[in-house]
Amino acid sequence: MAPAIAFWGEDRQIAAMSDLNDTSTVLRLLETRKSASAKAMTGPGPSASDLDRILACAVRVPDHGKLAPWRFLLWEGEARSQFGEIMRARWQALHPDHGAESLDFVRGLFLRAPVVLGVISTAAEHPKIPVWEQQLSAGAVCMNILIAATALGFGCQWNTDWVAYDREIAAAMGLAPHERVAGLIYLGQALSPLEDRPRPDAAALLTRWKTR
Ligand SMILES: Cc1cc2nc3c(=O)[nH]c(=O)nc-3n(C[C@H](O)[C@H](O)[C@H](O)COP(=O)(O)O)c2cc1C
Repeated sequence: MAPAIAFWGEDRQIAAMSDLNDTSTVLRLLETRKSASAKAMTGPGPSASDLDRILACAVRVPDHGKLAPWRFLLWEGEARSQFGEIMRARWQALHPDHGAESLDFVRGLFLRAPVVLGVISTAAEHPKIPVWEQQLSAGAVCMNILIAATALGFGCQWNTDWVAYDREIAAAMGLAPHERVAGLIYLGQALSPLEDRPRPDAAALLTRWKTR
């Protein structure tokens, strides 16, 4: 039987560009998935019905206790530049020595893609389900978004950046004190062909447990 990933380089599993994000089967997509870069994205982004499908996939994740410990925030259109002003002001307050170039970059962060989808972990103390498990579920939500968006033909990248860790920005997003940004997922089209990166050697990471 032919190996499942016959095109991988012998060396460190670099896929040819044309083999990336092969949506012919679920397994092929998982074997070839590659993020785009928010630094090199353009439109169009997902339509309202695309977003509905992406979100329907997003919530279809393992979720111990059926708590749905996550929610979504969407930035599109004008909301991106309006939020950009908030990020710029906060960056300026944090780094008063930074010049116009740095401030402009921060103001434009969300303008790099037509749609930015925030995944918010709402994990909270629970009598049975550890917070850690709820947060892992938020990570799974992010991953499902990447897979669904890629399957629909969009380029996407899971980012966080400083924006995800600043309490003032969190307040401007409307987050409650216990909520955290799990991901800011940029959705659009890659401006240029994607290049793979070396992938970890999965076999080297595997330990078959045995008694000592
Ligand atoms: C929780 C999390 C946060 C990330 N934040 C950033 C980020 O802020 N900026 C960035 O360039 N990549 C970030 N990445 C990495 C990208 O999502 C992505 O993995 C990278 O572009 C490589 O592409 P790949 O997914 O095809 O390996 C983050 C990944 C994770 C899991």
